Amino acid sequence: MKTLLDKLTQTFGPSGYENEIRALIRKEIEPYVDELHIDALGNLIARKGTKRDGGKRIMISAHMDELGVMASHVTDEGFVYIAFIGGINPLTCFGSRVRFGNGTEGVIYAETKKMNKVPDVTQLFVDVGATSKENCPVKTGDIGVFVRPFLDLGDRVVSKALDDRIGCYVAIETLKAIKESPNELYFVFSVQEEVGVRGAITSAYAVDPEIGIAVDVTISADTPHCEPANPVLGKGPCVKVRDGMLIASPKVIQAMTDAAEKAAIPYQMEVLRFAGTDAGAIQFARSGVPSGCLSIACRYVHSPSEMVDWNDTLNSIRLLTVLLENPLAS
Ligand code: CO
Ligand code: ZN
Repeated sequence: MKTLLDKLTQTFGPSGYENEIRALIRKEIEPYVDELHIDALGNLIARKGTKRDGGKRIMISAHMDELGVMASHVTDEGFVYIAFIGGINPLTCFGSRVRFGNGTEGVIYAETKKMNKVPDVTQLFVDVGATSKENCPVKTGDIGVFVRPFLDLGDRVVSKALDDRIGCYVAIETLKAIKESPNELYFVFSVQEEVGVRGAITSAYAVDPEIGIAVDVTISADTPHCEPANPVLGKGPCVKVRDGMLIASPKVIQAMTDAAEKAAIPYQMEVLRFAGTDAGAIQFARSGVPSGCLSIACRYVHSPSEMVDWNDTLNSIRLLTVLLENPLAS
């Protein structure tokens, strides 16, 4: 099972350039869905089942894009300066490697000698081994992602892009696990979340759901000297109550906690002071959609080595399956 997660994390797909990751997810889900299409922005939208017996049209969204870097200019000496695609902390970049769409790899660095504060993105450059602008295989506008292999630590897994390939994995496995449901389920693998939940805006308009549920990571609070907060690794899926973009619908919160209790799955309540997920966009579709988010606690979010708990992952699949297989109380 971890083989699929490994593949999902390692497949190229920065915001706006999701072709490869979309093709992989499409291949994986095609046998399990009734209808599938790709919209103009590149969202992969899959329907499973039709509405009956008090069921609802529910959109489940996991974003398939990942953080990236884009070449802003190349110096005469062949160094590539970059812009961030998504919220990257420059501190996590030193010595990190990136791979551009054409396969070129390089190392990110900045002159540290006189540095006494966190560097700005404009100070970072990628060294791809070129010696001049002419022989540099990377050009302005080329986009790359972090290079960091999948690491299986048993109960914990580590990789780049677990935000949100872990959500994609949970959505894929839930899609496979669901046998019967009165709900019309639209599984959306969205684009451009990391640059402002853009794919969720257009896909939610098209799907026109009655309920919206995002599946994404949240920041865990269980490392030394971290700010005290609720989500920790290994204590179960997190039911989001609020973040910077969303006050989750009490109805959706209740449905999630009911599902967890029904299936005897441990869960945690999540109150995040900042940030957001696709649910923040789905709630604004058309005349409004009650929305919530199932979160997976994650350490080192937005670094090239994000960590989640494997049992949290399996329990998230179980919780989402129970939630979606039953009618939601209204
Ligand atoms: Co993110
Ligand atoms: Zn995310």
